[in-house]
Amino acid sequence: MVMARSLILGLSALCIVSSVWALPTSTPEKLQVIRAFAASPSDVSTIRALEKENIKLDFWKDPRLNDHADIMVDSLNLKKVVSILDKNNISHHTMIEDVNSLIAEQERERQEIAANGAQAAGIDWDNYYQLAEIEGWLDNLSRESSAIEGWLDNLSRESSAVSIQNIGTSYEGRTLKVAKISNGSGNSTNKPAILITATIHAREWIAAATATYIIDQLASNSSAHPDILDLVDFYILPVINPDGYAYTASSRLWRKSRSRGSSSCIGTDGNRNFGYKWGDGDVPGSSGDPCSETYRGSAPFSERETAAVRDYIESNSNVNWTVYVTFHSYGQYFMSPWGYTRTLPTGYQAMYFMSPWGYTRTLPTGYQAMKQLSDVAAAALTAKYGTRYSTGSSANVLYYTDGTDQDWAFGSGHFPFSYTMELRDTGSYGFLLPARLIKPTAEETFEAIKTLARNVPK
Ligand SMILES: *[C@@H]1O[C@H](CO)[C@@H](O)[C@H](O)[C@H]1NC(C)=O
Ligand SMILES: *[C@@H]1O[C@H](CO)[C@@H](O)[C@H](O)[C@H]1NC(C)=O
Ligand SMILES: *[C@@H]1O[C@H](CO)[C@@H](O)[C@H](O)[C@H]1NC(C)=O
Ligand SMILES: *[C@@H]1O[C@H](CO)[C@@H](O)[C@H](O)[C@H]1NC(C)=O
Ligand SMILES: *[C@@H]1O[C@H](CO)[C@@H](O)[C@H](O)[C@H]1NC(C)=O
Ligand SMILES: *[C@@H]1O[C@H](CO)[C@@H](O)[C@H](O)[C@H]1NC(C)=O
Ligand SMILES: *[C@@H]1O[C@H](CO)[C@@H](O)[C@H](O)[C@H]1NC(C)=O
Repeated sequence: MVMARSLILGLSALCIVSSVWALPTSTPEKLQVIRAFAASPSDVSTIRALEKENIKLDFWKDPRLNDHADIMVDSLNLKKVVSILDKNNISHHTMIEDVNSLIAEQERERQEIAANGAQAAGIDWDNYYQLAEIEGWLDNLSRESSAIEGWLDNLSRESSAVSIQNIGTSYEGRTLKVAKISNGSGNSTNKPAILITATIHAREWIAAATATYIIDQLASNSSAHPDILDLVDFYILPVINPDGYAYTASSRLWRKSRSRGSSSCIGTDGNRNFGYKWGDGDVPGSSGDPCSETYRGSAPFSERETAAVRDYIESNSNVNWTVYVTFHSYGQYFMSPWGYTRTLPTGYQAMYFMSPWGYTRTLPTGYQAMKQLSDVAAAALTAKYGTRYSTGSSANVLYYTDGTDQDWAFGSGHFPFSYTMELRDTGSYGFLLPARLIKPTAEETFEAIKTLARNVPK
């Protein structure tokens, strides 16, 4: 395994040091994040309605009864928000005093690590990386797959452990790359498949970093977990929203895609654009307003990125899609369907209706099965560093969302198990998790993923 790593390192030793993400040059307004507690349904409505008061704000976390909402607001609007909260007797405090200084701090940290040459590889998990760096690394990884192949338990004949599949193009023409990691031969494998996607919300950098860490561990460190690739095949798409991710190089807190419609506002929330209960939650969990951060798009799968994921899953109907996991941040939640309703899915039977064999597979699925599996996985995660996660259906443990990939993956019948993981932290840094916390976050998350692989019903 050491050799596989150093081969990749050797090829890419020089590519990173010079690259530094640009910061906006103009002096930005001071931004704060306010944490407000919704103690009653009317508090929830009051907080939600802030958005309609013509106040420029950004919900880092939406309001939910008996829970807090995290609201980013600039100095010009802070007074107005605070006075509305106070007038309504909604308790609140400052969660992040100065967002821009935290962004600057994260950028300083990135540059410092880069300048110290601490990272020898194309990418590593001591720092955050740009899209081109991740893409180059993925391509190299795949080129090296015949070498990795040898180390992955002396693979059989034509098999190759890592292959990169280009599954589509983004609005701005970037390639969506899935790393397939399998010890089987091509499409003929019949193992359960785990599909991991990440970074549909561009600013959630820890999601991409964790996904690439898992690819690396599966590809280059298999002796540490020799059973995993015997049990399942992995398909990992570390950046679903490459345009948005690239844009965060200059606009750190960008969330949506970068597609343009008739509105002057740019971007769609890909995680409200999937075609299951699209715009149809019991309580609105997306927005029809193109300027909203949760804009669901003009139609289900209107976005090239979400359509590419759908087409990839549906056109590979011979793959035993079994577990779907999507990485987000932040909050430390390990959630399953539904997002659109608080009613729990019961006794759902996964039907692989696209299969050329026309087979159906009955698994002990439904909410109880998903919850049980996520509890076991979350316990393995906690065992690593003590990080606690909440498990349960997303509308119950977090808030209403509709048109999510999580609901679609399960609701469409393609995946009997579907999860959204909100990675670290619980609010000290929110989206701006320092680079020094990448490794522990990725390591503990990998424990959860291995546990899924070991416990998924077959
Ligand atoms: C990929 O490999 C090439 C050489 O084949 C190297 O020049 C480049 O730096 C590598 N890129 C990354 C990101 O590892
Ligand atoms: C304000 O909220 C507190 C608890 O959050 C409650 O004890 C108090 O009665 C409320 N006051 C008003 C005027 O609603
Ligand atoms: C395959 O395994 C054998 C015996 O363990 C070893 O000698 C050989 O080097 C391995 N091949 C590769 C490519 O790792
Ligand atoms: C299956 O094989 C086809 C043809 O070789 C390839 O295009 C496709 O990407 C493969 N799918 C998966 C999921 O490996
Ligand atoms: C899917 O996996 C099950 C066992 O998990 C296996 O019985 C079945 O043959 C597989 N189907 C395909 C098409 O590989
Ligand atoms: C390989 O995995 C083991 C066990 O999880 C871990 O301790 C080790 O650091 C990993 N090695 C690399 C190079 O990542
Ligand atoms: C791959 O996984 C299969 C299925 O569990 C296992 O039997 C096999 O030994 C593994 N290794 C290779 C090289 O196929």
